[in-house]
Amino acid sequence: MGYEASLDQASETPPPGAESGATGPLERGLEVINLLGRARDPQRPADLVKSTGLVRSTVDRVVGTLVQIGYARWQGREVVVAPRLMELGNAYLEGAGFAESLGPLATALADELDESVSVAVPDGDGARFVVQSPRRRAMSVAFRVGDLLPAELCAPGPIFAADWNAARWAAFERRIGGAGEPEHTRYSVPAPVPEGGAEGFRRRVAAASRAGWAADDQLIEPGLIAVAVPVRGPSGAVACALSVVSHTSRHDVASLHERVAGAAGARVSAMEEALRRPRPEADRVPGTDRSRDPKRELGPGFLQSLDRGLAVLASLGTRPGGVTIAESAEATGLPRATARRSLMALEALGYARLEGRRYVLLPKVLDLGYAELSTLTFEDVVLPHLRALVDRVHDSASLAVLDGPDIRYVARVPASKIMRVAINVGTRFPAWATSMGRVLLAALPERERAALLPATSPAPFTPHTHVDPAELHALIEAAATDGHALVDQEFDAGLRSVAVPLRDHRGTVIAALNVATHAGPESAPDTAARLLPALRATAAALEADLSAYPTLPAL
Ligand code: PHB
Repeated sequence: MGYEASLDQASETPPPGAESGATGPLERGLEVINLLGRARDPQRPADLVKSTGLVRSTVDRVVGTLVQIGYARWQGREVVVAPRLMELGNAYLEGAGFAESLGPLATALADELDESVSVAVPDGDGARFVVQSPRRRAMSVAFRVGDLLPAELCAPGPIFAADWNAARWAAFERRIGGAGEPEHTRYSVPAPVPEGGAEGFRRRVAAASRAGWAADDQLIEPGLIAVAVPVRGPSGAVACALSVVSHTSRHDVASLHERVAGAAGARVSAMEEALRRPRPEADRVPGTDRSRDPKRELGPGFLQSLDRGLAVLASLGTRPGGVTIAESAEATGLPRATARRSLMALEALGYARLEGRRYVLLPKVLDLGYAELSTLTFEDVVLPHLRALVDRVHDSASLAVLDGPDIRYVARVPASKIMRVAINVGTRFPAWATSMGRVLLAALPERERAALLPATSPAPFTPHTHVDPAELHALIEAAATDGHALVDQEFDAGLRSVAVPLRDHRGTVIAALNVATHAGPESAPDTAARLLPALRATAAALEADLSAYPTLPAL
């Protein structure tokens, strides 16, 4: 099972051939993704050349390929990771069952205790978060899903280390001894040499083993304390650890443990029960749609083997117990030999492990930009798309949702023109009189729509405003049929706007996207013809990004 794979990591030494031939681009691509994901700032290709040691032409091809797949995006002359990349981490979290089985249990415990609760899995000589149910407080450190802490600095660490083998202990001692391990830089916090060295940590591991729980008493941050208890998988081995995180202003370790001991037992049992339950095959791993347009322009620099290797990586999340070579080949549409080569490379690089005949994902896939991307806000995800749209059409672009009978702006990028409409995030307008409103009303069932429309003719905003309820009804019907709405100077003299709906992965309309332009000499149909292709393309790209989120990012 997927979560058990985290107990022991991929082989420490790469099998021969893993870095040769066609798998080289996959390794380099994963390295670049890893760096982009952990970089605090957008990276220029020259920065990537410096940090990877790869030659410029290789960096250019890797970046170009990642951008084409939708895993990275240009931001001016710099590159950032893009939401679609989350499909890889989602594949791991879904395959292991963390998202759906453990998440709600962690949240229930957080609600009961009114403290932050997290679940971490062992990953090398660290602990990686797979569930976070934070309580936002003035003084709190909230790690993100995907963040990796060194075992000696966090509460789950001593619990995991009880199962370490000699090789793992040796690696740990090398690391804290300062031997230049590349793993060093993987952690989300600096990892200074622990107090008492390796011996001190061994004592904490033994004590945790006897007590059945472990603590972090301000090891990471002054004031931050945590208590962790083990959660066992079906084999009886520790699968993950449940942590309750608090602050010295509310608890000390002893009182926090008392709280946890009273409440966590039932939750741990429920988690262990959830891990034992067979899970149905995921019908949809968020964002894992491998059907790429076969006719898309690949371009001369496109690294097909990187694209294929990443498709194989994503395919591992399609079945809870991992996939065989044949199943991966089938899921990706690749020849078996190609799938096999990629799987072996992924195993060598620590992203997957072979269990019997099946390859399962390992928590290291969360290193691929997951923590960064999973904490983006709705606006973070939306704004790059609105900016690109504005660059393309040279008019303002906005996103709005329905809020009662009004639309409410949730994101907006003004065109850099001197005359522009003063609208901000939060601005509300009556839905019936706006293009976004008509698109949003068009998505509602008849009865709900009727309830939000004026029953009698409202006061017009301009001489062009349609106010007759029957006419408005017909215009909204037309928006439903056409998939867009155009409002021409009905709301504001001189302003013409065109809107299209934005849907979630189920097809439900969640917002409307529009472009507002001057009602100049251009005819209204010409405006629609000019703007609609850009609006539709933007909506599709944004929908693809949003579909990478298991739940929509916070507004
Ligand atoms: C957390 O969930 O943020 C957390 C858990 C254990 C620690 C520290 C922080 O030791």
